[in-house]
Amino acid sequence: MAKPVLIAPSILSADFSKLGAEIAAVEAAGADWIHVDVMDGHFVPNITIGPQVVKALRGHAQKPFDVHLMISPVDPYIEAFAQAGADGLTVHPESGPHVHRTLQLIRKLGKKAGVVLNPATPIDALDNLMDLVDLILIMSVNPGFGGQSFIESQLAKIEAARKRIDATGRDIALEVDGGITPATARRAIAAGATVLVAGTAVFQGGPSQYAANIAALRG
Ligand code: DX5
Ligand code: ZN
Repeated sequence: MAKPVLIAPSILSADFSKLGAEIAAVEAAGADWIHVDVMDGHFVPNITIGPQVVKALRGHAQKPFDVHLMISPVDPYIEAFAQAGADGLTVHPESGPHVHRTLQLIRKLGKKAGVVLNPATPIDALDNLMDLVDLILIMSVNPGFGGQSFIESQLAKIEAARKRIDATGRDIALEVDGGITPATARRAIAAGATVLVAGTAVFQGGPSQYAANIAALRG
């Protein structure tokens, strides 16, 4: 039987005035991973949080920290995020000149290495990286903001990534990020996703709704 899908709430949609409490609340509501969106106002048109905040939050969480780095250049900050308590670090091939080296560095630091493909980034970007990745993230919106609509064309890319993962015989996570709702969650799972990132769909309605919101995404 297939493993149940994992839900990774994106704290981008949480109440930033009480992030520690928000993380504790989504964990109590059934979150599997905590997805942390790091943005620099340069690689993407929004600025969020840095390693100091990740470090401060780490003590409030039990679940793995899935850190999505939308910063360029990314290499100078990998070690700081690793030391801050990230369990996995996911990078865009466009965020530095040598993504292969970046993934090697993440592995060397003992963290799970992820590569993330923007909606316009072809699946072939994975060609020479499969042996270095523990996670593949398919963006189903253009990165930068929560609350956008799921881009349909990415379903075919999820299916293509699923085939490539199965061909390796390894347990590589296939994560989807952006515009996930109960309806798009079902389609992403059918296409082969094993981890769903959701911001709006988890945090809408406040803490009393988190458990129901997460359950609705599991299908
Ligand atoms: C977008 C981020 C996403 C975002 C998802 O750049 O990578 O993680 O927070 O938000 P929703 O689920 O609202 O589309
Ligand atoms: Zn993200």
